Amino acid sequence: MIVIKNKTAIRKMEIAGAKLLDLFTQVASFIRPGITTLDIDSFIANQLKQRGLTSRAKGYMGYKYVSCISVNDVVVHGVPSAAVVLKDKDLVKVDLCASYKGYCADMARCFFIGDADSNVVRFVEVAQKALDAGIAQARAGNRLSDISAAVQTEVEKNGFGIVREFAGHGIGKQMHEDPEILNYGKPGQEPVLRPGMTFAIEPMITMGKHNVYIAGDGWTVKTEDKSLAAHVEDTVLVTSGAPKILTRLSDRG
Ligand code: MF3
Ligand code: CO
Repeated sequence: MIVIKNKTAIRKMEIAGAKLLDLFTQVASFIRPGITTLDIDSFIANQLKQRGLTSRAKGYMGYKYVSCISVNDVVVHGVPSAAVVLKDKDLVKVDLCASYKGYCADMARCFFIGDADSNVVRFVEVAQKALDAGIAQARAGNRLSDISAAVQTEVEKNGFGIVREFAGHGIGKQMHEDPEILNYGKPGQEPVLRPGMTFAIEPMITMGKHNVYIAGDGWTVKTEDKSLAAHVEDTVLVTSGAPKILTRLSDRG
């Protein structure tokens, strides 16, 4: 069942999204060579507290950290570690789901350590363009799989792989709600989108083959061919007009 959010719920999700966006700008200035992914997680834990946000990763199926931090061929669900020291040319994905007064926002961004190669910059741009293409389909009257198809088309026309095993999701009181939002598929498949639905859209893309596996820790998702992976995510509200992206700055203020 897809929950339609009322005004009060939407307001809380908007605040969660705005706070998360603000937190990510702090993460961007904190990330540098020589720190560990555990340092980033500790920094985020402190930043969450300052903003009255609650991490929804911590405690989820026994997960011990507030964020997922995935480096290079780690696609998603990278577990923060004191043993992972960031170095020049690393591609770091930070993924964070947090709630404000019980309502969640979910967001992920890619960060470059030092100067990235131009092909890596382009790769991340394609992930962002795929996310934007998916979001653009999150309109009342469209079908859910219009989002999926738009994401896949954008990624594959640029020659990259789209990960099949993980997907976006509805979001609200729970981090993961219905529907599951695949990042591939044919357009035009139900359900029909309605105002008040809220989605976390999150393409995961690979520079090589799209195949991934879960490492021995039960969390870390890696590309089978060790190729680079990118992941970006936004939380989006379906309205009667244009989609409202809760984890970006809105022109309406
Ligand atoms: N944003 C991630 C997702 O939607 C959050 C994962 S939390 C974790 O799946 F606990 F599973 F790591
Ligand atoms: Co998510």
